[in-house]
Amino acid sequence: MNEDGGVLERLPSGIAGLDVILGGGFLKGGLYIIQGPPGAGKTTLGNQICFNHVADEKRALYATLFAEYHARMMQHLSIMSFFDISKLPDQLTYLNGLRVLHDEGLKGLLAVLRREITTRSASVLVIDGIVSARRAAQGEQAYNEFIHELQLIAIATDCTVFMLTSAQGIKVTPEHTMVDGIIELTDQLTGWAAESSLQAVKFRGSAFLRGRHAFKITSDGIVVHPRIEALLARPSQPDEGIPGRISCGIEQLDVMLGGGLPAYSTTMIMGPSGTGKQRSGSSF
Ligand SMILES: Nc1ncnc2c1ncn2[C@@H]1O[C@H](COP(=O)(O)OP(=O)(O)OP(=O)(O)O)[C@@H](O)[C@H]1O
Ligand SMILES: [Mg+2]
Repeated sequence: MNEDGGVLERLPSGIAGLDVILGGGFLKGGLYIIQGPPGAGKTTLGNQICFNHVADEKRALYATLFAEYHARMMQHLSIMSFFDISKLPDQLTYLNGLRVLHDEGLKGLLAVLRREITTRSASVLVIDGIVSARRAAQGEQAYNEFIHELQLIAIATDCTVFMLTSAQGIKVTPEHTMVDGIIELTDQLTGWAAESSLQAVKFRGSAFLRGRHAFKITSDGIVVHPRIEALLARPSQPDEGIPGRISCGIEQLDVMLGGGLPAYSTTMIMGPSGTGKQRSGSSF
């Protein structure tokens, strides 16, 4: 429920399995962490959310805080089916925030992000490489204030913000406490085979499918498979037994059966040749 008592609006990731896990998608105006080891698929997921978001007339902003060239990232992404060059730069804008972070610190970076979100009416912001902001922060307090400010920007502009980081495990850092949700990507060896899985470790304001769910990276991007038993834990429609008995057509047998055969049930009539199976069927 939102402050007006209404239902919180969702921002679907556009990734079917992930939206099922989250009960319909992320919450609009929320601040989320997407974390996982190098190569786990964070950049792919961040870009996929952006491209899915701008598929209709909406706008998104992808800010990187690392030295890697955008052209290189584009080359990697261009093989993905969700990649659509026609959305750049108007609907989906890439921005390298490393220089402003070095020159003007966290405050400068916040000012740029706020300005870009507002002028471009972006409703999704991905910050790839948030670890650079942590390194640039002068102390823990300054970094907490940065996260808090980011949260305020997200709420004020109704822009959903995703911070990508290679941090692993659940740490009780202020950052992990402050955000609205944490999605963790893991890559685990089982014998010789590698298995990728995804877990919503925290997700405020909604029920979600807890535990790990398998995913793979294909040319369509990240494809998530929610665990079947989690998916079906609550039946969509309770089973209804239909009471009542119906006559089997033989009066004495009905008495023996306590009033006839249970309605909507299946009964097998068996016996050696010539004992009356067909006759019983005909009576019924
Ligand atoms: N078409 C594809 N099919 C299967 N896997 C792919 C395909 N394209 C890319 N990959 C894999 O997806 C992964 C891409 O990961 P991505 O760059 O999103 O990871 P990351 O978590 O952002 O890593 P880093 O921490 O290094 O930034 C790579 O491991 C790559 O091998
Ligand atoms: Mg990356």
